[in-house]
Amino acid sequence: MENRWTAAQDYDQYAARLQKRNAAILANAIPNGPVYGHALDAGCGTGFATAALLEARPVRAVTAVDVSREMLSRAERNLLRFQDHEISYVNQSITNLPESHSYDLIISNAALHWTYPDIGGAINHLAGLLRPCGYIAFTTAGRSAASEEFDEKISNAIVSVGGTIDRHPFRQRRISTDEAIRFCEGAGLDVIEAFVIERTTSVAPDEYVAWAASSGRAWAELPDGEASLAAEILSYAEEFRVGHWSTLIVARSVHS
Ligand SMILES: C[S@@+](CC[C@H](N)C(=O)[O-])C[C@H]1O[C@@H](n2cnc3c(N)ncnc32)[C@H](O)[C@@H]1O
Repeated sequence: MENRWTAAQDYDQYAARLQKRNAAILANAIPNGPVYGHALDAGCGTGFATAALLEARPVRAVTAVDVSREMLSRAERNLLRFQDHEISYVNQSITNLPESHSYDLIISNAALHWTYPDIGGAINHLAGLLRPCGYIAFTTAGRSAASEEFDEKISNAIVSVGGTIDRHPFRQRRISTDEAIRFCEGAGLDVIEAFVIERTTSVAPDEYVAWAASSGRAWAELPDGEASLAAEILSYAEEFRVGHWSTLIVARSVHS
């Protein structure tokens, strides 16, 4: 599959504010009690979710999987402090993981929307990798009325400077909690928690554009000058409020 994730250093710098907090919310939503033997971090990026998990819950081993070598090698560096844990790094698509392995816990922070148009298929595949009574906890791009309005504003800014919206505009990748629950139940999962994390953060428009570009959005295709022009267009006010919506799910495998 196409690798949009080559700017691992930019990702670490610009996405940290949003994704690290999401990773911490995700890790703390996981049931506390059992020691998780083997966890999978699906779409681990630079390692925020694995780090949050290891800080919040007892886990023996983690397999961190990402389709981008650049993100994986940065994860390896960022997670050096967890030397007491067995962490292995696998450069593979989460839609293509061998079914010969099974996990006590699967986490995924902000990655499943990249499996669009078959997010349900990806959830189904991951559910099949869980041991009986194993847990899965993920966040993925969330949809709400406010997210629709925000996406419209971004699309207009890109188009207004001659950019094109890619074949799969980001808004199509979003799922509501209802859709996520439907996918999970269809995959034989029992949903324990489902909610949307909705946040607005005020950032300089330039910083937003740099973050979105490092996250593989359409901005990445705009020449530099036009990206900052689009950023200017976004800053009607003195500061630009970035919206960020994530659908969070915690579910358990009911297969025995
Ligand atoms: C927004 S980043 C999230 C990274 C990380 N989970 C975090 O908490 O910051 C999305 C990540 O998903 C990865 N990704 C996208 N599609 C993937 C796929 N099909 N299989 C594995 N990784 C994928 C990207 O390479 C990228 O590192």
